[in-house]
Amino acid sequence: MAEDFPVSWAPGVRVLFGQATLAARVAELGSRIGADYAGQPLTVLCVLKGASLFTADLVRAIALPLQLEFLGVASYGSGTTSSGEVRITSDTGTPLHDRDVLVVEDIVDTGLTLRFLLQALAARGCRSVRTCALLDKPSRRVEPVTVDYTGFVVEDRFLVGYGLDLDEQWRNLPFVGVLESAPPS
Ligand code: IMP
Repeated sequence: MAEDFPVSWAPGVRVLFGQATLAARVAELGSRIGADYAGQPLTVLCVLKGASLFTADLVRAIALPLQLEFLGVASYGSGTTSSGEVRITSDTGTPLHDRDVLVVEDIVDTGLTLRFLLQALAARGCRSVRTCALLDKPSRRVEPVTVDYTGFVVEDRFLVGYGLDLDEQWRNLPFVGVLESAPPS
């Protein structure tokens, strides 16, 4: 299949989940979320920047009226190692008090970011909070967090594309890939 081949400008990236695979899984998640939140007001909280592409596709697969909010967090200094420090880099435009919030993450790795977010949302008085992650790396977990909707469980490899970055590069790859060799400088 054409989707199994890397794009010419990212030769060191091997395709793990191609466009058709991603689209099919996003459609499944959207349909499950739509069924679970039927008749309930829903606020989708996109965690920037990594979940931006996933969220854009996911919300279009949820056949319900919903509100979309964005929260910027940073958990990585640079490279592929977590700093362990999580901070909010840009806040939502409106208060989340009394809202039914679905937090959308790109990937849950150590779980530190999601734990931080769940604590922050609890302090803001959300009516309910559930979590959705495109990717889950359970072997790396430090904080035991619950992911209510998971796209794919993955091994401990550093992934890029479809929103995921390495030092702010590769977010715009249309697939999720494994970085197999260092990118040309
Ligand atoms: P955690 O706090 O360790 O769970 O990490 C969460 C964040 O780390 C994610 O939202 C990503 O931004 C980043 N991250 C973790 N693993 C990867 C990866 O394989 N590729 C790109 N970013 C990652």
